[in-house]
Amino acid sequence: MFQTQILSTGHFTPEKVVTNDDIAKRVDTNDQWITERTGIKERRISDENKEFPSYMAAEAAKEALEKAKMDPNDIDLIMVSNTIGDYNFPNTATVVQERLGITSECPCLDINAACTGWVYGLVVANSLIQTNVYKNILLIGTEMTSRFNNWDDRQTCILFGDGCGATLLTATDKEGPRVIDSVLGCDSSKKDSLILPVGGAVRRGSVEIYQNKEQFVSMDGQTVFKNAVKTMASHCAKILQDNNLTQADIDWFIPHQANQRIIEAVARRLEYPMEKVISNVHKYANTSSASIPIAMNEALKEGKIKRGQKVMFAAFGAGLTSGAALIEF
Ligand code: ACO
Repeated sequence: MFQTQILSTGHFTPEKVVTNDDIAKRVDTNDQWITERTGIKERRISDENKEFPSYMAAEAAKEALEKAKMDPNDIDLIMVSNTIGDYNFPNTATVVQERLGITSECPCLDINAACTGWVYGLVVANSLIQTNVYKNILLIGTEMTSRFNNWDDRQTCILFGDGCGATLLTATDKEGPRVIDSVLGCDSSKKDSLILPVGGAVRRGSVEIYQNKEQFVSMDGQTVFKNAVKTMASHCAKILQDNNLTQADIDWFIPHQANQRIIEAVARRLEYPMEKVISNVHKYANTSSASIPIAMNEALKEGKIKRGQKVMFAAFGAGLTSGAALIEF
């Protein structure tokens, strides 16, 4: 059976920086409150006329392809995770195929599992590679969260940022790099605690909806917080137990970058040392399903993660979806 290797990674974040002080000019908040409650200092925001999810995805993918020295036409499947794509349809993976100039007519698939999307995608891609359906899969998390962010709601507007992370996965029959194990879940009883209620089939946009500013994200922060800590820690603990591993066997932990307090609470529950936890939430805020691949690419560039090391991922998001995966890099 083939195994899945992460061949290369790339990321893209918009140039525009919005600091906590910038937000405090618009809503009743301040840098101290945001820093203490979330660890976030600033976030990147897309140029709304250009840096769409597909644009960021293509830029991040080009970096990954260049590093792997792979011709875009050798990609067998494009998988794109996002909460808001370029359009309702066609899917964003389709637009990425066009932007990369791919003429091979490879299949294009979008995944919507909110912030857990990249981990969900990794599990699906791994199955397709292991069963020899596809060899090279481009898996991307790309998020223009500024499109669902209500800049007049201080409870949510401080949390999100835009960006993209790309990963190029390939089949290998050699010992070593592989997806070792994974766990996915979803607790739909809490689906209303994090929702973008307008724009789908249930509630289309209307003048009234836009006048009442109901088209933005709606969140019960404390329910999401508690569930995030519980599920991410329990999924990681299950993977450790099922594989007869201890915390000491894991070289790096890359959790979804939503809130530094959530990240630290998960590490505490897992009894995992913070020195080996990758965190960049202070500079990008929550980039939803892009956060793990962005953090991974940065950690690789900083020389932290090395070939042969074991890396654990954990994520949670609207649904409430959750998941974790362990790889040997
Ligand atoms: N600035 C100042 N005060 C604020 C702000 C703000 N930006 N936001 C809320 N407050 C106030 C509230 O109004 C409240 O005031 P009150 O006591 O007078 O009523 C007080 O601060 C406390 O509010 P809480 O909501 O209880 O604050 P909490 O400690 O829970 O922190 C937070 C809020 C940061 C949102 C936290 O709950 C959290 O991070 N939750 C997880 C959210 C998350 O990660 N969401 C993304 C999910 S991933 C995805 O799929 C998209």
